[in-house]
Amino acid sequence: MTAPRDETHFGYTTIPLEDKQGRVDDVFHSVARRYDLMNDLMSGGLHRAWKDALLTAVNPPKGDRPFALLDLAGGTGDVAFRVAQAGGPNTRVTVCDINAEMLAVGAERAAQRGLDHAVTFEQGNAEELPYADKSFDCVTIAFGIRNVPRIDRALAEAYRVLRIGGRFLCLEFSAVDVPGLDTLYELYSFKVIPRVGQAVTGDREAYQYLVESIRKFPKPQAFARMIEQAGFRRVSFRQMTGGVVALHSGWKL
Ligand SMILES: C[S@@+](CC[C@H](N)C(=O)[O-])C[C@H]1O[C@@H](n2cnc3c(N)ncnc32)[C@H](O)[C@@H]1O
Repeated sequence: MTAPRDETHFGYTTIPLEDKQGRVDDVFHSVARRYDLMNDLMSGGLHRAWKDALLTAVNPPKGDRPFALLDLAGGTGDVAFRVAQAGGPNTRVTVCDINAEMLAVGAERAAQRGLDHAVTFEQGNAEELPYADKSFDCVTIAFGIRNVPRIDRALAEAYRVLRIGGRFLCLEFSAVDVPGLDTLYELYSFKVIPRVGQAVTGDREAYQYLVESIRKFPKPQAFARMIEQAGFRRVSFRQMTGGVVALHSGWKL
């Protein structure tokens, strides 16, 4: 008898665990060139405010103290650019993402903004980071963790590469808990987003995956427990926009 294969979700579809990364990679290959435009369209620009809240929590030094940030699943560099612009002259950001197409868009944007001295783009898997232990002051991941097949491995890796006293920050879609807003949000997510995705990127499936994967992601309390299980201390989270997103935090102490 063969052992049962591990399964996971790709949106609402149950698939073998080992197939998920390939499916996720197809999604981001397909939408990379239109990814930033779609973020603005889908969130009505709100993703900028959420990323600004993440930047405030990162709080890079304004002076010349060295500061190394790892932005996991950093895609086209949005979080990295914010931190590099806000930080002092020795702030350095490494964007690590599994998808070469997203990274290529990010590297072009960095060059256009004159930020290529401060931001580097490197291909890597969040589950198996190509960095030494204790090499970063802060690790961020924005709208990335729910795409990673083995979340516990990614959290363990974030913990490993952080120095003692470093902070892990994760911005992710969460659970809307405001009566009335939840119904509107459901309608908007399932009726509007896949259609806009189809019109702008030609890939409806990618945006269907996006809204389904948000619903499948653990509730914020459960995700906070996973962060604790990875070894982080003083774990907390703050929901924004009625629970549309949550900013999770943990320290390596
Ligand atoms: C929704 S995008 C977020 C991009 C960026 N952080 C932002 O906020 O705009 C998700 C990103 O996760 C990346 N990703 C998915 N699985 C990954 C993995 N195992 N390791 C690293 N990156 C991954 C995708 O390639 C994609 O760029």
